[in-house]
Amino acid sequence: MLKTHNCGELRPENAGQQVTLAGWVHRRRDQGGLIFIDLRDRWGITQIVVDQQNTPEAHRIADNTRSEYVVQVTGQVRRRPAGAENSDLATGEIEVVGSSMTILNASKTPPFPINREDFVDEESRMAYRYLYLRRPEMQSNIVLRHRVVKFMRDYLDKQGFVEVETPILFKTTPEGARDFLVPSRLNPGEFYALPQSPQQLKQLLMVAGYERYFQIARCFRDEDLRGDRQPEFTQLDMEMSFVQREDVMAMVEGLMTAIVREVAGKEPLYVPFPRIRYEDAMEKYGSDKPDLRYDLAAVDISPLAGKTAFPIFVNNVAVGKPVKVLRAPKMGLRSGMALRKLAEELETLARSAGAKGLAWMALPETEDGEVKGPIGKYFTVDQKLELFAQTNAEAGDLLLFVSDERDTVYRVVDTLRRHLANELNLVDPEVLAFGWIIDFPQFYWNEEEKRWDPSQHLFTMPLPEDLHLLDTDPGKARGSQYDLACNGYEVAGGSIRIHDREIQEKIFPLIGLTVEQAKEQFGHMLDAFEFGTPPHGGLASGVDRLVMVLAGEKNIREVIAFPKTQQGADIMANAPSQPEPRQLEELHIRVVHPEPKK
Ligand code: AMO
Repeated sequence: MLKTHNCGELRPENAGQQVTLAGWVHRRRDQGGLIFIDLRDRWGITQIVVDQQNTPEAHRIADNTRSEYVVQVTGQVRRRPAGAENSDLATGEIEVVGSSMTILNASKTPPFPINREDFVDEESRMAYRYLYLRRPEMQSNIVLRHRVVKFMRDYLDKQGFVEVETPILFKTTPEGARDFLVPSRLNPGEFYALPQSPQQLKQLLMVAGYERYFQIARCFRDEDLRGDRQPEFTQLDMEMSFVQREDVMAMVEGLMTAIVREVAGKEPLYVPFPRIRYEDAMEKYGSDKPDLRYDLAAVDISPLAGKTAFPIFVNNVAVGKPVKVLRAPKMGLRSGMALRKLAEELETLARSAGAKGLAWMALPETEDGEVKGPIGKYFTVDQKLELFAQTNAEAGDLLLFVSDERDTVYRVVDTLRRHLANELNLVDPEVLAFGWIIDFPQFYWNEEEKRWDPSQHLFTMPLPEDLHLLDTDPGKARGSQYDLACNGYEVAGGSIRIHDREIQEKIFPLIGLTVEQAKEQFGHMLDAFEFGTPPHGGLASGVDRLVMVLAGEKNIREVIAFPKTQQGADIMANAPSQPEPRQLEELHIRVVHPEPKK
């Protein structure tokens, strides 16, 4: 080894030892006869001091170093003089007096500083990914990710799970996104699809008798990207035989709680994780992945609103559109101008989520004051009192009214709720609030195609008590799906599966597949299910997303070593790129370029 210790290791007990360190020049300060170098490696930073008088040759070399040079230093550890300690550094009580120094490799001036937390634009972060990854915060995210994955493997191994790898070159998997296709040279005109998840294969492993399977699985989905989505991402994918949904949820809850405690060194806000019915989550939070670190739940005041004199509410309630109220504690305590400005900002935000407007009411500071806001006059005194009682409103609170089609109300409530929580400082990045969402509808109606879409995927078993609804009222049937939300993100999802061919065949026509089409796509599954299939169920957790939440990051790219840009590109390596004409010929592929945009 070119080093005897790492840069995060030395302590006062090491004083007097001769050591060799190697790493990157994080910072260099020249103080005349003395040069100080903060030497960095993956484990930390150690201060090196080189004295011109005692060690002129080492000083000359230190003088030639610049930021991000790779150097090796040999010298003696000593306690720092009193007053010169640095409590921000684990090694802050010592320094190494360098007696010899070697430059192992020079560095160009980096395009952005590694040693400061300055904002780095997305383009540079991606183009110089290897430099961005040098930043201590990124290294700590990547190491956290390693710890989480290792913990998952060890934990599940102890629970009797077997890790099985499944193919990347496979066939379309029905997770609802577009497939990435790979042409087959040996079978001209035919394509593999990269797996959107190992869903079918893990179910086949249950048919094959493995009973407890997991995999740290790479998944590929060609869909629009957002801050918490990548076109290729990693799942902790699991499946268990002879289980009911409680068993899978208990297993995952145990694992997640242990990860939070033992890897992140924290305690989940709620143990056991609360369970929220899908319908309640939507009605209260407007989201099936609510941030449970704060409440700020919407209150449905439709019956009351329908009796007021405000025409929009009255008309909406008459046709079944709900009126919901969000209460922002003490946000009404502003002067007239400032209050109107705030209301305008919130209305703009509500409109961006689809609202046609946003009515508001601010409660006075004192009991005898008047409410402020344009719709106060449409409520009688009794109706106001009733409104305050239903929403638990107190002096100085701001009430926001959302009324529209139910789906629009959900979107607006979700958007406003997240915004208000930030404004009210209710979002603590240190807190982890997990919650299960259960009792999802089995299907959503697809108006364009006039058919049902599975709300999870077509292998999800309806709840046993709702099975009969497949024949009579499929829209009312609830699925056995369970999702795990944490801090406003969906970090996992799964279900109990259909293991009975008869039930499976009832699903196909509802989602617009003929039995022939189903056989063509999933014939191997249907065949397999006829050879003794155990009842089974499972779940997959987005590893990237989970680590993002654990690390308190807001973008999934901050926990992935080499992610893609919003356009699905790797601008460091320049992928995707055009293949050689010869490669396309071998694949029997001719490219039809899109018409240039006019
Ligand atoms: P689902 O599609 O819900 O379920 O995916 C499971 C989890 O994977 C994560 N995830 C993503 N993370 C990053 N980028 C993406 N594009 C992305 N898409 C999904 C989420 C999500 O909760 N086969 C089923 C699981 C099962 O039923 O067992 C499945 O893939 O955290």
